[in-house]
Amino acid sequence: MRRYVIAGNWKMNMTPNKAKALIEEMKPLVAGKDNCDVVLCVPAIDVPAAIEAAAGSNIKIGAENVHFKASGAYTGEISAEMLVEAGVEYVVIGHSERRQYFGETDQTVNLRTLAALNAGLKAIVCVGETLEQRELGYTETLLKFQTKMALTNVTAEQMKNVIIAYEPVWAIGTGVTATADQADEGNGYVRAAVAEMFGASVAEATTVQYGGSMNDKNAAELLSKENVDGGLIGGASLKSAAFAAIVEAAQ
Ligand code: 13P
Repeated sequence: MRRYVIAGNWKMNMTPNKAKALIEEMKPLVAGKDNCDVVLCVPAIDVPAAIEAAAGSNIKIGAENVHFKASGAYTGEISAEMLVEAGVEYVVIGHSERRQYFGETDQTVNLRTLAALNAGLKAIVCVGETLEQRELGYTETLLKFQTKMALTNVTAEQMKNVIIAYEPVWAIGTGVTATADQADEGNGYVRAAVAEMFGASVAEATTVQYGGSMNDKNAAELLSKENVDGGLIGGASLKSAAFAAIVEAAQ
């Protein structure tokens, strides 16, 4: 019922020329892999090159952030309307790196989510606990709180355009992957929070990704879990063969 989504998050990597070359490499490798949506979320400056390179393929392009205001004196920021006009379809919101380094809060994550959805973008909303929060036993509480805060004032209809990525902070870029059971459990907490807000049928239909050191070796096991409907992939999305192998694992 719910759709698998395999999304790369390039973070602050790849120039426009490199973006073009990598997408050209990936296109034939992921062609026809229709059991999942294939998305690459790229730096804003790479968006035009990425969209041009991906044209006519099954690769969709996303951004890595969006501002919550429509326009105005917000130097350095990019609006949802700008992304839409550029041809962007998805946007990552509330990544833990933005929460950690750029002052992103649950409230701004919510505002960005609403701005993205109201503009017709698909939002990939990120939640996840730190190692300290996990060790204190707060994982379920934290994941449900972050999920509910992010989705405040979102309508059940708009939930069709929401993807939630469970990314344990301790698993991002560390090479330490959550076990498949930990991923399934975390994703299950997220789905339970969606059910508490929107009811069981919306929760069942919502794509919940796992992210954090997902790669070509561990993807099949992670994706085999009931609550894991795809991946948000950092490092391994910068290599065509590894990313294609993850897409293959979602078939
Ligand atoms: P890595 O796959 O590099 O651990 O990054 C995960 C991530 O943060 C994706 O958003």
